[in-house]
Amino acid sequence: MKNRHPKGLIVLFFTEMWERFSFYGMRAILVLYLTQETIGENPGLGWTKADALSLYAWYMGLVYGMSIPGGILADRLLGQKKTVLVGGVLIAAGQLTLAVPGIETFYAGLALIISGVGCLKPNISTMVGGLYREGDSRRDSGFVIFYIGINIGAFAAPLAVGAVGELYGWRYAFGMAGIGMLLGLAVYLWGQKHLKDVGLRTSPKAAEVDKKTPLTPVERDRVIVLLISFLIVVVFWAAYEQAGGLMNLYTKEKINRVIFDWKIPTSWFQSVPAAFVIILGGVVAAFWARRSKKGKENSSLFKMALGIMITGSGFLFMSGAAMQAETGVKAMLIFLVMAYLLHVVGELCLSPVALSFITKLAPAKYAASMMGLYFAATGLGGLAAGKVGELATRAGEFEVFTGIFVFCAVFGLLLLVFFKKLKALTHGAEEIKS
Ligand code: PHE
Repeated sequence: MKNRHPKGLIVLFFTEMWERFSFYGMRAILVLYLTQETIGENPGLGWTKADALSLYAWYMGLVYGMSIPGGILADRLLGQKKTVLVGGVLIAAGQLTLAVPGIETFYAGLALIISGVGCLKPNISTMVGGLYREGDSRRDSGFVIFYIGINIGAFAAPLAVGAVGELYGWRYAFGMAGIGMLLGLAVYLWGQKHLKDVGLRTSPKAAEVDKKTPLTPVERDRVIVLLISFLIVVVFWAAYEQAGGLMNLYTKEKINRVIFDWKIPTSWFQSVPAAFVIILGGVVAAFWARRSKKGKENSSLFKMALGIMITGSGFLFMSGAAMQAETGVKAMLIFLVMAYLLHVVGELCLSPVALSFITKLAPAKYAASMMGLYFAATGLGGLAAGKVGELATRAGEFEVFTGIFVFCAVFGLLLLVFFKKLKALTHGAEEIKS
């Protein structure tokens, strides 16, 4: 078969699936564990919601922010292949450390996970690209398949880890997340032979030669758009990553989770976005393909602006939930599900194009650093997400949900208003086939 993907893709697919299983499993219960009272059958740490969301903010910021040192470690010292391995070991050790009771082990576990994800996540993503030669038409679909693997892990984890955490005990759940990462490591080690020389360290000299030459005017324009697109990424994830923080706590307290006399565990709703990604990924991609066939506007900037507005509009449903909950009853489940649905439609507009757009705008000599910077921007978004969530404990949930909607709408509209100007500044960067 001509269109078969390299075997290495299966290896990276399952490694990342298990890594995301461990990441999203732990994340699904993080704020629930922190805010659970210290007494009772399944005691937590008894933190206030504000403190829990603040920790969520710093965790999300650091876990992706560490992609920069993780990328440098791979480039300068170990190569991606080894750095991913180190990352997996650190993550598994971190999750298993969380399973040991005590506040010291809790912080130590988080630190290990943060370092581990920083080593693993950006480098495994770069390795997916490395499976294909330049100009290989299978590359894009390779990334789509990889994104599905991510979301299979993200879908299964809250169901499994979340249920164990909420119903049996948090410690077992952290342990389970650790075992998930160990399975990922096993796949990765088994698959080394299929990865061949992907992710081996290459001499960085070539990239360093022309660092001193100044940017040309075209490059300078592109850098302006580049910075704006980083801002888009930050704003987008600041909205989207409410899921694991404020929206998770909100689901627990204010959403009616009872169906047929059975109370659905809070953490299970963390699976909903991933399920939507798997179901709708193809639909959204087909929609853009059809539009482009008809010759309609399809540029990445346009998709990103639209993505922000669609995700932002999901918060209108959360405002609806908050209005209902303010009358003293629990809000209807459909509000939450609709919010996640729109979040994901927005994600599917923005996320698949953002990284490649940024890569195309970056002057060639900086191309290699872009993956790390892109993840760091995601991390800044996560940090902002937690901090905005924390604000809700003072300003009120309705105000914050509505505020996010308004902010995203205005930001997206501004991008569309200045769309032509921004596009001119790219100097046709998008048309260049990489
Ligand atoms: N769902 C994505 C993932 O876990 C979110 C993400 C996008 C994270 C970009 C980091 C960078 O992979």
